[in-house]
Parts: sequence; C-alpha cells; structure tokens
Amino acid sequence: MYDFEFYNPTRLLFGRSSLEQLDTLVPNDARVLLLYGGQSAKRNGTLAQVSQVLGKRICAEFGGISPNPNYHQLLQAVEQIRQQKLDFILAIGGGSIIDAGKFIAAAAPYQGEPWEILETDGRHIDQALPLGTVLTLPATGSEMNNCAVISNSALGLKRSFRHPSVFPRFSVLAPQLSFSLPQPQIANGVVDAFVHVTEQYLTYPVDAKVQDRFAEGLLLTLIEEGPKALAEPENYQVRANIMFSATMALNGLIGTGVPQDWSTHKLGHELTVRHGLDHAVTLAILLPTMLRLRKAAKHAKLLQYAERVWQLSDGSEEQRIDAAIELTRQFFESMGLKTHLSDYGIGHEAIAPLLENLERQGLTQLGEDGRVDLELSRQVFQASL
Ligand code: NZQ
Ligand code: ZN
Repeated sequence: MYDFEFYNPTRLLFGRSSLEQLDTLVPNDARVLLLYGGQSAKRNGTLAQVSQVLGKRICAEFGGISPNPNYHQLLQAVEQIRQQKLDFILAIGGGSIIDAGKFIAAAAPYQGEPWEILETDGRHIDQALPLGTVLTLPATGSEMNNCAVISNSALGLKRSFRHPSVFPRFSVLAPQLSFSLPQPQIANGVVDAFVHVTEQYLTYPVDAKVQDRFAEGLLLTLIEEGPKALAEPENYQVRANIMFSATMALNGLIGTGVPQDWSTHKLGHELTVRHGLDHAVTLAILLPTMLRLRKAAKHAKLLQYAERVWQLSDGSEEQRIDAAIELTRQFFESMGLKTHLSDYGIGHEAIAPLLENLERQGLTQLGEDGRVDLELSRQVFQASL
C-alpha cells in the first residue's frame, strides 16, 4: 500500500428525517443562496421542504442550473452573491448542482478571473464560502468530496478543480428524495458510482486489502441493488443502499494508498462536451472497451475482479477476464444504458475531433501508468463504435 493522508471533513446526515436537521446545520444568521436545477426540486417538493425548515433565515434563490453546469451561467450566481452579500450556499440536487455550488463558493471571494480556478486546478484558491448540500440524485459522490467538474461551452471544455475549502460542510442524504428520479437517471447514478469504484480499483495490485474489499463491497451492492431500484422505484432500503454506495465510492476512502486510473472519465468528458451524452452514458460505453484494451496492464486486478465480484473461477485466466468484462457491459445494458457509440448515432468521423481536443488539453498520458496515449484513446473510441 502507498503512503497516504486521508482527510474528509463533510458531516453526513443520513435517513428519512435528515432534512429536518438543516435547521441546526445552517447558522441562524446565515444569508443563504439556494441553488437548484431545472424543474425537479420544485416539482417533487424538495425546495419547499427546505424553505420550510430554514424558516425565517434570509434566503435568495438561483435556479435553472443545467446538467454539466456551464461556467458562464455560474458567473451570474457569483454576481448575485456579491451584490446581495450572501454568505452561505445550499445546493439542492445532483452532482451538477453540487459542483456548481463548489465553484460558486470558491469564485465569489476569488480575487482574479474565476476561470483561473479551473485552469489551475484550484491551486490559487485561498478561501471559499461555506457550502451545504441536499442530495437528490445518488451518483457522483460530490456531496462528500472536494472536486467539481464545470463545462465551458464557449471553449468546448469540461474542466475540474479540487480544493479542501470546497468540501461540503454537511450533506443531507434522505434516500426518499431520489424516488422521483426517472429511470435513466437512476441508471446513470448506479453506473457512475460503479465506474468511480473501478477507476480506483481496476489498476494494479499494491496489497491494499482494505481498499480492495471496500471497493468490491460497493460493486457487489450496486450490482445487487441497481436493478431493484428500477423494478421497485419506491423501495427505501434499496435507495438507501445505492445512495450510501455512491457517496462512499468517491469520498476518497477507497482511493487512498492505491493507484488510480480515471482515463475512462477523461475520454468520457470529451463525449459529453462534443456530443451531449450524459456523463454516465459515456462511461457505460467506454469502460468495457478500455478494460479490454488494457487487459495486460490490469491483468492481476481484472482476475481478482472476475473472481470476487462476478464469482468466475472456471476456465483460463484470459477467459475469466473476458467474461468479467462482458458481464460488466451486460450489467450496464440491464440498467437500460446502451454501450456503443453507434447507439447514439456517433460514427467513425467523430473520433478525430475527440482526439484533437484531448491533445489540446495535454491529455496524452492518461491512466494509472500514463500509458493511455492518443493512439490508445483512438483505439478505445474506435472499438466503442
Ligand atoms: O435539472 P433538474 O430538473 O433538477 O433535473 C435533474 C437533471 O436533469 C434530474 N434530477 C436530479 N434529482 C432529481 C432529478 N429528477 C427527478 N428527481 C430527482 N430527485 O437529474 C438530471 C441530472 O442531474 P445531474 O446533477 O446533472 O446528474 P449527476 O448527479 O449525474 O451529475 C452529473 C455531473 O457531475 C459531474 C459530471 O461530470 C456531471 O457534470 N461529476 C462530478 C464529480 C465530482 N464532483 O466528484 C465526479 C463525477 O465523475 C462527475 O464527473
Ligand atoms: Zn463519474
């Protein structure tokens, strides 16, 4: 196991009545900006419940934040915070809204041009406004990590930053708030969480038994509960297990002291930027192909994955690995996500521009060993058609 430091200050409030605890978590004299997305938080009553619990606190609103939040839209919220002297951000939604909250929290007190935050991976941030979250879509783990992913449609880029000051102070995880999710978003959440685990687990062994077994537990839970969430949309326990899995998949724990990959995510971001595919859809398409093309580098962990996650013990090592990758792809399909670019009308001609964008950003040595270069990325896109 590698040396590591683990720091995660986010307080989690988990359960049916966790929303009520907002009253004790948000300071009485806070001047709050409520952030939310297009429709769902209003339609399913979450926003009204939050407003009721916050009572007489000063609350302003900034709604309409789009999935894959866009830099230019978020600057308007930064302006609102500065003008109205707001000092607390409460993000109500999925990863997009929480990531937006992190960016706004860092950008509002930032001295320079806010785009610098994304250009420099957050290195020059020295403070951020306090942020709390009410999670409505289990998927990204953003509710318990210090990372945010922001798009810039004008530049055709999706960039991330991280900084300790944007860890949410608290996150409310009330699984029933996810009952109103449409099936494709339930599937997206399960697949995104699954791939967060594989990015930190399917690399090469460093004898990190605790991290490995936590990771395998999360994968097994997602495989078991994912289809149930589609079949029984109001099963609280199923949603609770999925929600906690998604949070634990990317709160730093399973990634401590181990090599990490993230090449599937980096290539996936390009598909979202250029073709508008949902984040998780890009992962469902690319992960099986990435694993197939990286079989040699990932041999030992793929074999462990085949045995411990898919209970495959017959046949040659090669056969077990192939079967595990195919079962992974079938799992994504069983959740309702298609796993080929052609399913989304994306053909061969799309590949060159995707590679150009990777090159422009210097994303030419990806993966746990830096071996996912442009040629390998081309092969991954090609084999995903
Ligand atoms: O806009 P509304 O109407 O609210 O609808 C949203 C949105 O259209 C809807 N939704 C959310 N909760 C709902 C609901 N609909 C009904 N009932 C509910 N309870 O779901 C749609 C998608 O929401 P979004 O927040 O975009 O989804 P997700 O949580 O998958 O977040 C995706 C974003 O997170 C980034 C992705 O790149 C993408 O921008 N990621 C952030 C990470 C992080 N911060 O650590 C890591 C991830 O790998 C990922 O990159
Ligand atoms: Zn993801």
